[in-house]
Parts: sequence; structure tokens; C-alpha cells
Amino acid sequence: MSKFPKPPPMSLSPWACLPSCILLLLSLLNSVFAALPIIPVSTCQNICGTIPVRFPFGTGFGCGHPSFAKYIKCSSGTLQFSTGTGVYSVSSIDYPSSTIIVTAPFMSNCSSLQNSGSFSLDKASPFILTKDNIFVLLGCSKASPVFDSNEDLCDTGSGYSVCKGLNSCKGVTGIGLKHNASISTCCVYDSPDGLGSGYSLYLPKLQCSSFTSIYEFGDEWNPMKWKFGISLQYNNSYYTDGCKDCEDSGGLCGFSSLDESFACVCRNGINSTNNCVGRGYAWSGTMGHKIQTKMNIGGFLVSWMLMFIKSR
Ligand SMILES: *[C@@H]1O[C@H](CO)[C@@H](O)[C@H](O)[C@H]1NC(C)=O
Ligand SMILES: *[C@@H]1O[C@H](CO)[C@@H](O)[C@H](O)[C@H]1NC(C)=O
Ligand SMILES: *[C@@H]1O[C@H](CO)[C@@H](O)[C@H](O)[C@H]1NC(C)=O
Ligand SMILES: *[C@@H]1O[C@H](CO)[C@@H](O)[C@H](O)[C@H]1NC(C)=O
Repeated sequence: MSKFPKPPPMSLSPWACLPSCILLLLSLLNSVFAALPIIPVSTCQNICGTIPVRFPFGTGFGCGHPSFAKYIKCSSGTLQFSTGTGVYSVSSIDYPSSTIIVTAPFMSNCSSLQNSGSFSLDKASPFILTKDNIFVLLGCSKASPVFDSNEDLCDTGSGYSVCKGLNSCKGVTGIGLKHNASISTCCVYDSPDGLGSGYSLYLPKLQCSSFTSIYEFGDEWNPMKWKFGISLQYNNSYYTDGCKDCEDSGGLCGFSSLDESFACVCRNGINSTNNCVGRGYAWSGTMGHKIQTKMNIGGFLVSWMLMFIKSR
């Protein structure tokens, strides 16, 4: 009699609940996924590959101190050091002594000697070479300026045994030299301003095919055990009380990309001008609790619906 369609019968078919079941599940998933990505949102990390990254270094732009950000960044798990001559990799950082060890691509070592690029250190950078470095130029032409007898650029004392050691490496054939050949093409380079910044080593200008730097000898007679790399000291006077306050609250010190003013980068990606108290961890407490509760309710509803379907 009625013009209106009959209302659906009270006993629902199990499929009738399908749309609402899906909606319910989606909203549950949604709240779970909304909580998960909070962890990696922060652009600043405290580790790169296996190297702990602490102030003044940062893993990306806006992290660490602005004076360091243009030299150091983390790229696919490698901590990179960039200068005017290229991109090098940082193999270790020693925070107590404020030194880092950098290796250049194609820099020679005893197992692999090869034609190398150049290396330079910008004058304005907060890095200087440490006294530990022994720079060795290999495969230099007779006409190379390093052999200019008026300049006295090569160390002919202990440098002699360093050259001899490298010439005994099996990798020496990689730059076209013979084992234990004459060391007349090798120079242990006494750089004029070795300790200052603004240092550069341009191989084409020096007419040498390869270079390396040794920062530790250990067992002097076995060049396979020498430590190859460039040891740099960084200016460690950038740490402030403000940064300490930020770190104590679980944040990482960084800077604003607009004006390079200090920013404390909290774990949830939110930046603060001072610290992360009441900002960084909100998700781990109350939010986690709410999700738990929602899941329990959701689980109850789903099992209730399954019982309902079964019982028919
Ligand atoms: C926080 O700072 C970092 C680093 O400067 C920046 O990449 C990020 O976009 C900032 N996040 C917010 C929410 O402002
Ligand atoms: C020697 O140099 C090669 C090529 O750059 C590199 O793959 C290797 O890890 C280096 N070995 C050592 C002991 O540093
Ligand atoms: C090169 O000299 C070293 C040390 O004198 C020696 O141990 C090595 O066997 C020599 N290598 C060759 C290929 O002659
Ligand atoms: C180190 O950095 C501080 C702060 O920027 C600066 O005042 C000082 O001159 C720097 N020291 C050296 C040796 O460059």
C-alpha cells in the first residue's frame, strides 16, 4: 500500500555490512598509518651509514651549524665532504679531538694505486689540515715543479722511506710503475702552508699522476698497514648553551633555511626556536594509547561481525 520502498528486513545479509566494515577497517588503518611516519619525518638524523653525526655536523641542509652545512651532508648512507675540487667521503669523525678523516675518490693506497683527482680546502672553511698528514705525490714527471731544486718542496729525509714503501706495494703497477723501481718520480710533499686553510693540491699543475695521504704509520715497515686518508681538524667553537638545551630535550641542533637562525629540530619534524620539551614526544605517549584503544574496539567489532555472519 505504501508508496515508499519497504524498509530492509531486520535480519541483514552478511554482505550488507560490507561497506561499513570496509569503512571501519580503512579508518583503523588510516589512524595507524597516520601515526607511523612520524618517526622519519625529521629531516635531520643523528647517524649517517655507520658514522654518528653530531653538532656542528648535520645530515642535510638545515641540520647542524650553517657554516658546516655546505661542506658536510649525508647522501645515501655516505657522509660527504665537498670542496671546490670535488666530493670526498668522510670515513670517521673523532669528536673529542675535533678531527675527521676524509678519503678522496681514486686516492691511492697500498692495495690500489691509481690516477687521482685533485684536493683542495677552501680558505673560508672551518677545516684545516692536521700535522698528521704526509702527502705523497706519485708518478710525477721529471719536469714537475715539485722537483724544482730551488724550491725544496720534497722531503728527501724520511720521505725517502715513505716513497720506497709505496713503491713496494703491489698496487703500484696501477699507475704504470714497476715494483721497487726508482723513487725518482715520488715526492713527499712539504706543503708550504700545510697547517693553514686554503690548501690545494692540483695534480695536473704538479704534473703527477697520483697522490695519497698517510695519517698514521703504525707498523712502519709494512705499507699495507699504513692508514690512508686526509686528517682534518674542525673549528669546534660553535657549540652554544642553546644547542645543549635542544640536545638535552632530545632534539638536534639545526638552522632555519630563511635566515640561518638557530632551530631545534625535534623528532617529529617540528622545529622550535629553543627546545623540544612538550613537542618532540607527544606521539609516543597519548597518541599511542588512543591507537591501542581504537584497535581494541575495532578488533571487538570485527569479531562480533564474524560471529554474526557465522551464526547465519
Ligand atoms: C624544520 O627544519 C628543517 C631543517 O631546517 C626543514 O627541512 C623542515 O622543513 C622544517 N620543518 C618544519 C615543519 O618547519
Ligand atoms: C684502497 O683504495 C681502493 C680504491 O679507492 C678502495 O676501494 C679500498 O677500500 C682502499 N683500501 C683501503 C685499505 O683503504
Ligand atoms: C720489493 O721490495 C720489498 C722490500 O725490499 C720486498 O719485500 C719485495 O719482495 C720486493 N718486490 C718485488 C716484486 O721485487
Ligand atoms: C672558530 O669559529 C669561531 C666562531 O665562528 C670564530 O670566532 C673563530 O675565529 C674560529 N677560529 C678559527 C681558528 O678559525
